[in-house]
Parts: sequence; C-alpha cells; structure tokens
Amino acid sequence: MKNASPSKLSFSNALIVVLFFTIIYSTISILTSGFNWLILIVVDLLLFVFVFYSFKYTLEKFIYQKIRLVYKTIYNLKRQKGVKVEKREFKTESIESINQEVLEWGETKKLEIEELKKNELYRRDFLGNIYHELKTPIFNIQGYVLTLLDGGLEDPTINREYLLRTEKSINRMIAIVEDLETISNLETSQISLRITKFDIIELTQEVFEFLEIKARKKKKEFCLADKYDKPIMVKADKKWIRQVLVNLLDNSIKYGASKQGKTKVSFFDMDENILIEITDDGSGIAPNEIPRVFERFYRTESARNKEKSGTGLGLAIVKHIIEAHDQTINVRSRIDVGTTFGFTLRKA
Ligand SMILES: Nc1ncnc2c1ncn2[C@@H]1O[C@H](COP(=O)(O)OP(=O)(O)OP(=O)(O)O)[C@@H](O)[C@H]1O
Ligand SMILES: [Mg+2]
Repeated sequence: MKNASPSKLSFSNALIVVLFFTIIYSTISILTSGFNWLILIVVDLLLFVFVFYSFKYTLEKFIYQKIRLVYKTIYNLKRQKGVKVEKREFKTESIESINQEVLEWGETKKLEIEELKKNELYRRDFLGNIYHELKTPIFNIQGYVLTLLDGGLEDPTINREYLLRTEKSINRMIAIVEDLETISNLETSQISLRITKFDIIELTQEVFEFLEIKARKKKKEFCLADKYDKPIMVKADKKWIRQVLVNLLDNSIKYGASKQGKTKVSFFDMDENILIEITDDGSGIAPNEIPRVFERFYRTESARNKEKSGTGLGLAIVKHIIEAHDQTINVRSRIDVGTTFGFTLRKA
C-alpha cells in the first residue's frame, strides 16, 4: 500500500472487519429470517470505531514508534556528518518516504565504504613501495658500515671506497625522501603556485646547463629544435616548471640510447598555450606501458631489469605539477626509436 500511514491502515482494516461482520450477520439472519437493519448499523458503527482505534493504537505504539526510532538515529547520523537535513515532523512522514530516505542513506554509506576501501588499498600499496625503495640503500649502508667496523677501516684499499659508497646510498635515500615530500605536498594540495611571467627558452637552457655534466657522462646531448631568437613568455610557477624540465630531461638521459644520444626540445605556439616537447632517441616505452608511466612508483620492465636507479616518482610529480597549472601532459613513444613528452603552458 503506497503512502500508508497508521490512520489509513487502521481505516482500511476497520472497513474490512465491518464488511466481514456485515456478510456474516446477513448470512446468519437470512437463514434464521431475523434480519434487523438497526442492529447491523449500530454494531457496524461500534465495530468500526473499536477496530479503528485499537488498530491505530497498536500500530503507533509497537511498530511505528520503532521505525521512528530508526528514522531518528539516521537523522542524527546525517546531522553529525555535517550534512544539512531539514528537520521534518515525523508524524507527517509516511512509511514509503522513510523507506526512500533509508535507501538513500544506505547508498551514501556504500559509496563512503568503497572510497575508504580504495584509500586503504592505496595506503597499503604506497607503504609497500616505500619500504621496497628504502630497503636497498639501508641494507647497503649497513653492509658497508659493518665491513668498516670489522677491520675495513684500517684497510686503506677499501676504507675510502666504502665510505664513498655509503655516501651514495645516503644520497639515494635523501632523494627518495625529497621526492616523497614533494609528492605528498602536491597530493594534499599544500602547494600554492607562484605564477609569474618568464621566458621558457631561457629556463630550458638553464636546465640544460644544470644537467650538462650528467648528460656528458652518458654521452647525451641537449639541443633546441630550432633557432628561437625571440623569447617565448609563459605564465606559470617557474620553480615547479624547472622541476618538470629537470625530471623530463633527466629521464631522457637515463633512458636514452646506450650509444650516443640526443634530446631535442621544441616549442609550438597554440593560440592560448605554448606546447613544449621533449624528444629523445632512446629505448622507447612499450605501448602497453605508456598509460602507466605517470603512476607513482611505476617503472617499465626494461628500466627495472637494467637496474637504472630511480623510484618511479619523477613523472608522477611532473603530472601533478602540470595539472596544478590546469594544463595537460602527454607522451608518445616507439620502442627503439624514442619518446616524446609534451606539455602545455599558458602563454603570457
Ligand atoms: N624518456 C624515456 N624513455 C624511455 N622510458 C622512459 C622515459 N621516461 C620515463 N620512462 C619510463 O617511465 C618510468 C617512470 O619514470 P619516472 O621518471 O616516473 O621514474 P624513474 O625515472 O624511474 O625514477 P625517478 O624519476 O623517480 O628517479 C621509468 O622508470 C622508465 O621506465
Ligand atoms: Mg625519472
């Protein structure tokens, strides 16, 4: 019964009882030929009133009040969560609309639980990854220090070498912790962008210089794709864009060709934006791995196999920075041909 309230239910029940009595009374009185209209009407009336009120009382007292309690609990839970709910007088509520409200409440709870489960999974993954990344340098340091303590300190052929290796592992740990801090700040939106106007070509050349020694060691070369004789001004946070360029160019050194390699940076005017593309002639990324390279801690199989140092956080950081600028980044790549990362910035 739709929109059943205790009164409506009691009314229909009283009606059924009265009808039933009328049929019984009529049948009996016809059989005994003693039918009396007055008796029928009076008894029907009394019966109706009695059944109606007793039914209504029972319903309200024992069932309706229980539902009301449930309703009140849900109402209070909703209010605690800071959800604005209008306080409605319960008496006017029909069971149907309460049912609707309980269903809605259940649906929001289901979504909340799903969200919590997802967070839990992410936390577990994240913890596992951090553990995995920090384990190697920590155990290395432990090994070197123990060897030094076991007499290595007096051995001039290894003491300096082991201290240098220890320092390298410590630097690795510092780099991981710094990346984690950056990503955590970016993910909790604790960074505020300091947007300024600057020349992206100048910044790119500055990063070229910053990475030059590292690039030369790996026989890699940086260049601009064209002669850009006029500055290209963009509006962005210079510090963070510098980080983007460092991470992308650093990858092009690390995952570039094992022989000599070249990384080209090009700029394209796209009405409102400038597209910056960084192209290398390196190992490339397999098509099935391309969608995953921006995930935290993701490293392609070949990178993992070749044991190139890296945490897999660099591109995740890059993506966060570009998205914080409301811009986009994409990648195209072909195995053994090379990779191009392209991102946009607002033109100044
Ligand atoms: N230019 C590239 N050419 C080929 N593969 C690349 C290139 N850039 C990134 N990749 C692949 O994507 C993965 C993720 O890159 P990302 O920069 O996030 O991590 P990483 O370089 O391994 O470590 P980190 O940058 O944190 O030191 C790399 O491990 C590598 O497999
Ligand atoms: Mg990287």
